Amino acid sequence: MTEKELDNEIQASLKKIENSLPAIMPRLSEDMIRDNLMSDEFLDFVKVNMLPIEQMMTFYQCAIMQVETKFKILNEQFSLNLDRNPIESIKSRVKSYESIMRKIRRKKIGLSVEDIEGGIHDIAGVRVVCSYIDDIYLLADCLLQQDDVTLVERKDYIKNPKPSGYRSLHLIVEVPIFLQNEKKSVKVEVQLRTIAMDFWASLEHTLHYKRSEKEFSGSEAEELAAELADCAAEISRLDRRMQQIRDRITEL
Ligand code: GTP
Ligand code: MG
Repeated sequence: MTEKELDNEIQASLKKIENSLPAIMPRLSEDMIRDNLMSDEFLDFVKVNMLPIEQMMTFYQCAIMQVETKFKILNEQFSLNLDRNPIESIKSRVKSYESIMRKIRRKKIGLSVEDIEGGIHDIAGVRVVCSYIDDIYLLADCLLQQDDVTLVERKDYIKNPKPSGYRSLHLIVEVPIFLQNEKKSVKVEVQLRTIAMDFWASLEHTLHYKRSEKEFSGSEAEELAAELADCAAEISRLDRRMQQIRDRITEL
């Protein structure tokens, strides 16, 4: 075989390997993960280290139950005393592992449970939807008056709406949960808004999400954002008018 022929043969073999790599690679990486990462030692490591995280998530779930119950009790009481329910609905969630990880990465938070608890305030989230703006402030005041609720932060996006047009009252509160031998303070983010603000926020959230997925051209997204900001202003006027009409009716 001449040197040239040998060279050609080597080139052809290399090409064959190169072409088959995409098919082999996933299997190779699967084999590598199975053989190296799924060892007993590694699985033990995951188990030991996941336990505090799973425990932390359970605490947040308990804190949500605590805060939800407080709102439900207030709703019952107003229903008895005022003959109306200020709360239209309550929606709660514990932040998903994926969102927690993304926030840890974005805010450069440490990986210990203490760092996560200290750095992320919205792992437990309770959203309270009301019909009228005044009820938002009434419920917030009633919650904050309770002696086991501590206010950590208050952001009033109703009085100071975001540039997007977003409106809601946000409270970060700390509530105690009682465990077998200890009491633990847990943070919960409470968002209070009207039905109309809630309706607006879910549509605007969809735009935000689709925008990050680049499903729109830049100018189309800008146009929709401007249209939504305009709707937010209209919704705000509508909320205030509805409030005034209700006030006049109840004064009768
Ligand atoms: P995060 O790191 O995102 O939690 O920011 P932050 O701690 O400054 O909280 P912020 O008060 O800005 O908002 C917290 C939450 O309010 C978000 O996770 C959303 O649920 C909601 N929110 C805030 N701004 C907007 C907005 O412009 N549109 C919509 N749809 N929701 C918003
Ligand atoms: Mg937040």
